[in-house]
Amino acid sequence: MHKDHIRLAVVGATGAVGTEMFRILEQRNFPFASLRAFASERSVGKTIRCKGKAYPIEVATPEVFKDLDIALFSAGSETTKLFRDAAKKGGCLIIDNSSAFRMERDVPLVIPEINGDDIKAHKGLIAVPNCSAIVMLMAVCPISKLSPIKRIVVSTYQAVSGAGAKALAELEEQTQDFVAGKQPVAKVLPHQIAFNLFSHNTAINEAGYNGEEWKLIHESKKILHNDSLAITATCVRVPVMRAHSESVNIEFKDARPTLEHIHKALAEFPGVKVVDDRENNYFPMPLDASGKDDILVGRIRNDISNPKAIDLFVSGDQLRKGAALDAVQIAEYLVKNDLF
Ligand SMILES: NC(=O)c1ccc[n+]([C@@H]2O[C@H](COP(=O)([O-])OP(=O)(O)OC[C@H]3O[C@@H](n4cnc5c(N)ncnc54)[C@H](OP(=O)(O)O)[C@@H]3O)[C@@H](O)[C@H]2O)c1
Repeated sequence: MHKDHIRLAVVGATGAVGTEMFRILEQRNFPFASLRAFASERSVGKTIRCKGKAYPIEVATPEVFKDLDIALFSAGSETTKLFRDAAKKGGCLIIDNSSAFRMERDVPLVIPEINGDDIKAHKGLIAVPNCSAIVMLMAVCPISKLSPIKRIVVSTYQAVSGAGAKALAELEEQTQDFVAGKQPVAKVLPHQIAFNLFSHNTAINEAGYNGEEWKLIHESKKILHNDSLAITATCVRVPVMRAHSESVNIEFKDARPTLEHIHKALAEFPGVKVVDDRENNYFPMPLDASGKDDILVGRIRNDISNPKAIDLFVSGDQLRKGAALDAVQIAEYLVKNDLF
């Protein structure tokens, strides 16, 4: 299909990821012949702007997909499950931000800078990985090319917008209440988030890991095509508006690469920016990562407790590279390679 003929849609257009999607489509001047914006009945009457035009929010129904070529989904797992078959029947390719189908064998799970070529095997649905996995792997991938990795230990500091637009509003509301001397009330997230932090708000499984940790571990192996990679994770929600940060310990199978080589590999990797100023104690921060495409990487140092390991700290905008940008990059790859 010629790129000027693409009939594009965003499903979940009013959400935290969806609104970012429209910004990115405009900023990257993504080619489309038509664009439609879908959400739930709650949003009918609203509009969203892209490339100087206002698009009315429409209610998504199974029938709409026969008139679409690509749909960028960010409306939660249940919505993707609801419309997957209708999209397939209608000949509309789904790029999905939810976790509904990520681990299915015939669904490519893609970070274009890392495993873009997996897109070629798509069967009508391509999944965007978990946002914490994307932020971590953008730093891990260039390092893994220097020397094979044996084990990763990661701890996350995850922004509230990762839990959606309502959670973001809740942090603002609770902060105002706290400052005004009122008791903050938790309605969206399970605990008070203002001036607090807590273990990620996903259910704990039989192994004792929460859902976010489980996704980070298993999706990373799928993306890197490396089932034998050992990973453990602790995921925590922090009172930050936007951009996830992560402390990452990487143990190599053999001797660790030099810090100089690691700096160089990271600096040369597209989508990564090294922020590692020891003299001024200036390292990746979520405020600096917010609204940016690059994943910031710093605190790059040898692990003094293990001669084969290093430590680093990353911050990345989970609404952009961790979700909307990754989805649009996948769509760009499809267009560039004539793959739909
Ligand atoms: N937030 C992040 O940082 C992030 C990162 C990576 C992946 N994700 C994933 O992306 C998805 C969206 O997350 P979000 O944070 O953007 O959530 P959100 O802010 O809560 O937005 C959800 C969106 O889905 C829409 N929606 C709900 N039910 C629908 C239906 N039946 N048909 C059509 N649209 C429907 C909502 O419309 P209304 O406004 O009308 O309710 C809204 O536009 C989730 O699967 C999430 O796990 C999020």
